[in-house]
Amino acid sequence: MKLVFLGPPGAGKGTIAALAKESLSIPHVSTGELFRKNIRMGTALGKKVRDILAAGNLVPDDVTVAMVKDRLAEADAERGYILDGFPRTIAQAEALAGISGIDHVVNFLLDKESIVRRLSGRRMSKSTGKIYHLVYNPPKRDGVDDETGEPLIQREDDKEEAILHRLEVYEEQTTPLIDYYRRRGLLLDIDATGTPDVVHARMLERLGKAEKDA
Ligand code: AP5
Repeated sequence: MKLVFLGPPGAGKGTIAALAKESLSIPHVSTGELFRKNIRMGTALGKKVRDILAAGNLVPDDVTVAMVKDRLAEADAERGYILDGFPRTIAQAEALAGISGIDHVVNFLLDKESIVRRLSGRRMSKSTGKIYHLVYNPPKRDGVDDETGEPLIQREDDKEEAILHRLEVYEEQTTPLIDYYRRRGLLLDIDATGTPDVVHARMLERLGKAEKDA
């Protein structure tokens, strides 16, 4: 199955993708995480995008599309994938159509208050990218990754100013994709409230129905 996860920052795309990659046995391809990995490794791409991510702006389309094209050419993406955070502009959606067909676009819906609450409490493991939340999904030991024992970090773009800016960027540049994919009959709206297990089960049920109707 080839899926795109769409939705505002903090809607839970990465969290649900981590569950769905197991339940659907397909790789999770997060453009945000690919960029962050390049930043951590100090690659030329990482140096180019570091300030853009910290400010909550979008990386230019040509850079992003080239990175996704390379990733989708890897063997594990042949049988399907979850694209999390891509496409984010109409130009990226058109580029994706030239690279690969997709089966469904899952559009996670969440109110602004919950988004800010989720993002301001998010912490993550620097080396594995595993996502935690101070209240909703705390680590076993305060401030420390369950697997590696390293201190958890807060993302640069999870500071309040950057969160508000990312929401504006999402409204302006990414919401046009909702209509774009709805017109093509690919969009599945999913209520993103409730625990991750509840949202994951809701999405699987909706995907099951959509597959039957196809
Ligand atoms: P990216 O990493 O994609 O960030 P995003 O879209 O802003 O999404 P987030 O990762 O913030 O949120 P999420 O929906 O995955 O939520 P999560 O599961 O973590 O992109 C970062 C940057 O990279 C962009 O700003 C841009 O600069 C660049 N970029 C990436 N893709 C690009 C592209 N295509 N083009 C150009 N630039 C691009 O959950 C959030 C928190 O809530 C966590 O703490 C989690 O534990 C908690 N939580 C999740 N679900 C629940 C739940 N059901 N109940 C309670 N808590 C929950």
